[in-house]
Amino acid sequence: MCGIVGCVLKEKKAAPILLDSISKLEYRGYDSVGIATAVDRKINLKKDAGKIKEVDKKLDLKDMEGSFGIAHVRWATHGDPNKTNSHPHLNMDRTIAVVHNGIIENSAEIKEELIGEGYKFKSETDTEVIPHLLDKYMKTGLDLENALRKVLDVIHGSYAIAAICVDEPGRVVATRKDSPLIVGIGHDEYFVASDYPAILKYARDIIFPEQGEIVVLNPDGVTVKDEYDNVINKEVTTINWSPEMAEKGGYDHFMIKEINEQDTAIQNTLTQRENVQQIVDELKGDINRVVFVACGTSYHASLIGKYLIEPLAGIPTEVLLASEFKYSARTLDEKTLVIFISQSGETADTLKALDIANETSKTLAIVNVVGSSMTRRAQYVIQTQAGPEIGVAATKTYVSQLTAIYLFAGLLAGDEELLSKLEKVPDYINEILKDCDVIKQLSVKYRYAKDFFYLGRGYAYPTALEGALKLKEITYIHGEGYAAGELKHGPLALIDKGIPVVVLLPPGDNLEKTMSNLEEVRARGADVLAIGARKDKEQFTHAKDIFLINDEVDEIIAPLVYIVPLQLLSYYVAISKEGVDPDKPKNLAKCVTVE
Ligand code: M6R
Repeated sequence: MCGIVGCVLKEKKAAPILLDSISKLEYRGYDSVGIATAVDRKINLKKDAGKIKEVDKKLDLKDMEGSFGIAHVRWATHGDPNKTNSHPHLNMDRTIAVVHNGIIENSAEIKEELIGEGYKFKSETDTEVIPHLLDKYMKTGLDLENALRKVLDVIHGSYAIAAICVDEPGRVVATRKDSPLIVGIGHDEYFVASDYPAILKYARDIIFPEQGEIVVLNPDGVTVKDEYDNVINKEVTTINWSPEMAEKGGYDHFMIKEINEQDTAIQNTLTQRENVQQIVDELKGDINRVVFVACGTSYHASLIGKYLIEPLAGIPTEVLLASEFKYSARTLDEKTLVIFISQSGETADTLKALDIANETSKTLAIVNVVGSSMTRRAQYVIQTQAGPEIGVAATKTYVSQLTAIYLFAGLLAGDEELLSKLEKVPDYINEILKDCDVIKQLSVKYRYAKDFFYLGRGYAYPTALEGALKLKEITYIHGEGYAAGELKHGPLALIDKGIPVVVLLPPGDNLEKTMSNLEEVRARGADVLAIGARKDKEQFTHAKDIFLINDEVDEIIAPLVYIVPLQLLSYYVAISKEGVDPDKPKNLAKCVTVE
């Protein structure tokens, strides 16, 4: 998804800071980059398609005068990635520059009208209507802020917008609707950005603008106003994420750093127990149904919620994909608790579902990004404590989401035994990380595979799905996760000699049956990688490869632990392939703000 930054500094050049900040949003997935500053009634503009490093080498993005400006990384939606379609976009007089994240749904109609009024368009983007509209309204005598307010009456869709104008030196105006935008207050420097990593180095006092509010950055401070031009006294939140947390810290990639941070992410999330207990106390007795809603990896975490809450707390629980929510959730009522799981707290599909659920039901969001839209729109919030996750593939936020779900389910059911088991999970994960060479060796063997299968039963089934997703997204190898018992109902036809099948075999009631499934695929020539407990090693001798895990990890807590070798396997296969960057898989974005 696109990323935007804007800044106003005192007596400093904005371009180097904008370049540094926008580079921290690379993880969002992008194809083009651009910066605009203004000085002496002139917009300086440098932009092109390509990676930031390449474009900087070609255009020297740092070398621009001006102490305020805006920057953008683009993830193409309307029009190919090329120089003309890159942001910032300008009006015809080159006095206004705009960056935008999101989609202007009625851009075609607006464009037609503007063309009728004599405006000429250069790009194929939806965004270009904004500088022309600003131009039109400013020519009626409005300042940039009020012109932007007027633009919001005309455009439909989702947006975070930042704009500058040569007639208003030292000013950046910005707004948002259904796209993330935060405001950072530093020492004599003020920022707007799509996400924290962009500004952590410069500002940690944060304001969260609501939908439609207009932010104005000046050299002397920040003003936030509502749609009627009233100044709003916004709460300032100081966040405890450090700039180092958003750096690689000596690791080759964010993904492997984040895999290695999973022990801390779990420990930190366990500190939320008191908050979770309060939420449980308020809700208990008042709900007779739970519905989880999420996308991607967060959906896989949600599936574990069903396996825990139904048997432990006896409350019927369903899990829905957020993008399908509006078609399937027709029977919500005030006794239903709808739980939204999200790393970013900004995923458009999940946010839409949250708005629908808020009308009838109780809503709880389990979210990692502090101050994100979901944390402000849900009635109850559990904040996972994974810290910033930069790699597009969710790893430490997944285990943190699971930890929050285990806490919630354990406290709801009053299951102290389960809760105490969580304490040792970080140690089990560290044992696996110490054995990562074993996985590295396996990756050499498996890197040429074209298809992978992952099998798990019961609690291990969502882990199989998540393992397959990790493989697909960062190695571009086809992988499918199946409920082990489902294989014989169709997919077994695909199993052939040499196809890798990863079988998850945590100790517990499901082990015996999953062993039969292992035999089914082995008999058809599959290369089985068995992952199970050390004590059960003898049972796995038919597997081609074996990876062993601490005996204390039973099938109930296995989801928190058995995912780690699967993450490592995907990571090592990815980095063994030429041209594959596990942190920025092709076609994917970290935060998906369009439906
Ligand atoms: O921010 P969210 O958790 O709401 O994002 C949902 C999915 O886009 C996300 O989990 C995605 O599947 C992962 N990045 C994949 O690793």
